[in-house]
Amino acid sequence: MSALRNEIVRSVHHWTEELFSFRTSRDKGFRFASGQFTMIGLRIDGKPLLRAYSIASAHYDDELEFLSIKVPDGKLTSRLKDLAPGDEILVGAKATGTLLLDSLTPGRNLYLLGTGTGLAPFLSLVRDPDVYERFEKVILVHGCRQVRDLAYRSKLADELPADEILGDLVRDKLVYYPTITREPFKNRGRITDLIANGTLANDVGLPPIGKQDDRFMLCGSVQMLADLRPLLEGAGLSEGSTTAPGEFVVEKAFVE
Ligand code: A2P
Repeated sequence: MSALRNEIVRSVHHWTEELFSFRTSRDKGFRFASGQFTMIGLRIDGKPLLRAYSIASAHYDDELEFLSIKVPDGKLTSRLKDLAPGDEILVGAKATGTLLLDSLTPGRNLYLLGTGTGLAPFLSLVRDPDVYERFEKVILVHGCRQVRDLAYRSKLADELPADEILGDLVRDKLVYYPTITREPFKNRGRITDLIANGTLANDVGLPPIGKQDDRFMLCGSVQMLADLRPLLEGAGLSEGSTTAPGEFVVEKAFVE
């Protein structure tokens, strides 16, 4: 089996000047777990140019969805941003990644912490009924500079709770908590600060974070992950893997 497949772009949505998402066809043989990523890209001068992208669509969706920034002069994203329905795109035949439910020990609350395009894997996870089977509360935190950067805001705040199939679970268990750092908004501040000073737990009506009840998935910049890790470890939590599940898992948000 070839490591890459040709898929067809079905739709493209530009959220801001710097942020867009697109949906593609999905080979029936392509399997992934919520939270995983795959390689995607374009053939340029006959050679595939590929980058890792978290899959934002649900594992049961007929299409695949990806969220991307437009890196100025970025080799791949400067081309991807011009994608249009009908265009071909390369998609890896395999998915991988660390943001897996099976790498977490059982708990009560699942915190999904993402900055920027680090939201993408969580868009898949919050559409997975298994998440709601395993946890009583799912807190999706999306940290951005400005309000306009909050991609999927109305989908998460309005459409998902009204979803015919997932709506009941989502209304009961999902808390969507967007937070903004560079302009006024109802929730303000970096995720790290909101964890460190207890604001996040307090705002969502949960006790201070602790090893017994709380599980975390993190997706953001290298620095964001480096800053969050000691906060979680300081609360007694340890990183998990499929062979040794723990209280948190970590994935770098991918950029060029
Ligand atoms: P800030 O505005 O204070 O830099 P970016 O657009 O650079 O990817 O950032 C997305 C969001 O992540 C912004 O709100 C930014 O806050 C925040 N952020 C950047 N670095 C960190 C970090 N080390 N820890 C937590 N949040 C961060």
